Amino acid sequence: MVFIYPGSFDPITNGHLDIINRAVKLCDKLIVAVGTNISKKPAFSVEERIELIRASVGENEKISVMSFSGLLVEFAKKHNSNIIIKGLRAMSDFEYEFQMALLNKQLDSELETLFMMTSVHYSFLSSSVVKEIAINGGDIGGLVPDSIKDRIIKKLYCSKNV
Ligand code: PNS
Repeated sequence: MVFIYPGSFDPITNGHLDIINRAVKLCDKLIVAVGTNISKKPAFSVEERIELIRASVGENEKISVMSFSGLLVEFAKKHNSNIIIKGLRAMSDFEYEFQMALLNKQLDSELETLFMMTSVHYSFLSSSVVKEIAINGGDIGGLVPDSIKDRIIKKLYCSKNV
């Protein structure tokens, strides 16, 4: 079975990575799909976000990282998948994710959205808080994979302070 894990990943956090590592155990292939959320203005380009995800995930033949434009349902169809994986941190995520899952179901009745609860130690974590800390020169250790920490700081803090 092919699972699709879609998101903005601007940038990937340890919370996302936790979902990736748990979801990949449940499927034959996991596609991490970097999409456009029209209500967000990303700090990282799509190419940068893909690079950061690849550097975080490392070598794993079951995981592919790619971008998509247009509707998620079309992307899923193209990759022969009808399973969308989403992470849920708290009740505050629920309303939006519930709406998205129902809309996607409306667009394609074969599509199922499966929710995975975040691990408790990442329940406070989001890409937005990572960006806020990094932009202001704070320590993002433990919030994002070590392998990409410096790249995030370089982009968000160093470029702002030269
Ligand atoms: O990490 P995010 O910002 O919650 O990810 C949202 C994303 C990119 C998965 C979502 O906005 C999306 O699927 N965009 C593509 C357009 C689409 O299919 N929207 C859902 C039906 S209206």
